[in-house]
Amino acid sequence: MEHKGFTLWFTGLSGSGKSTVANILLKRLQDGGAKVEILDGDVVRTNLSKGLGFSKEDRDTNIRRIGFVCNLLSRNGVIAMSAAISPYKEIRDEVRAGAENFVEVYVECDIDTLVERDPKGLYKKAIAGEIKNFTGISDPYEAPENPEIHFHSGQETAEESAEKVWNQLVAMGLITV
Ligand code: ADX
Repeated sequence: MEHKGFTLWFTGLSGSGKSTVANILLKRLQDGGAKVEILDGDVVRTNLSKGLGFSKEDRDTNIRRIGFVCNLLSRNGVIAMSAAISPYKEIRDEVRAGAENFVEVYVECDIDTLVERDPKGLYKKAIAGEIKNFTGISDPYEAPENPEIHFHSGQETAEESAEKVWNQLVAMGLITV
């Protein structure tokens, strides 16, 4: 396969499946010989954004840093995937404006499903008030209005979602198989 450099920007609540779908695509792209990296919210926060919290200011800083790195990679022909909540529309649009090829993927999932899944037990704590400013519970999430790709992760498998992303990338001419 051939590919252009681009940023594949996942956005959605914690536990919605951003990283899962990104990792399926990572494997598929690597198997095709592509140069690709994932900047995962949880991972970035242990190095690039270590020390940042979850205030709006810190989240914005986190997202701008991820956007900056995605831009460096994508302009050198790499496929850069971001898998951070990125709750604020304005900052996502700012990153988009600074990028050459930006593809936004809205991973939607209803709160009931997230609370039911809750593999890290974070929703339980957030509802009990033990974690403050938790996105979707006690902190805002601004859904994208015109994402290139949008799916409901509670209503399909991660493989099906990854397939939708793949097909859209082909349709946009960013990957050629
Ligand atoms: S972002 O808002 O800055 O984009 P990011 O994706 O890096 O967030 O980090 C989110 C992850 O941090 C969640 O998946 C969860 O594991 C953890 N987390 C801890 N506290 C919070 C919180 N208050 N709100 C959201 N996620 C939190």
